[in-house]
Amino acid sequence: MGLRKILTTRDPALHKVCKPVTAFDGKLHKLLDDMKETLLDACGVGLAAPQVGILRRVVVVDMGAEEPELLELVNPELLETSGEQCGAEGCLSVPGKYGLVKRPNYARVRAQDRDGNWFEAEGEALIARCFCHELDHLDGIMYTEIMDRFLTDEELNAGD
Ligand code: NI
Repeated sequence: MGLRKILTTRDPALHKVCKPVTAFDGKLHKLLDDMKETLLDACGVGLAAPQVGILRRVVVVDMGAEEPELLELVNPELLETSGEQCGAEGCLSVPGKYGLVKRPNYARVRAQDRDGNWFEAEGEALIARCFCHELDHLDGIMYTEIMDRFLTDEELNAGD
């Protein structure tokens, strides 16, 4: 029903530049609802519309520290970044793998909500990483294209 299939990295949809959303209608609301359900089901931090095969600029991010707190971002734009972090990054479209990726440690974005109203959101550490990762998806960029390298099994197991 609400769950959408998450495409994996070989799918051409993940390598295209997505179009802006122009209609803030029931179809968009259903997409956002389905994406949130799909993200929670997959236990991810963020999900971009191209990952479910929709080439539109739509992202959902879990901002919650303990309980899920899902933020909907339509036509998001990066306004400001600062600092740097280099750490493990994964993607629901690259199951079971993690790479070392440099990202800003702080990011501020602006986006529209499901009714078209503009707002701003900001975050540090994991949230900043997630904003950058999800916005990259909208331009067809996978983290595997910008990472230093994949983490080895030893490195992954050491984190347990
Ligand atoms: Ni991803």
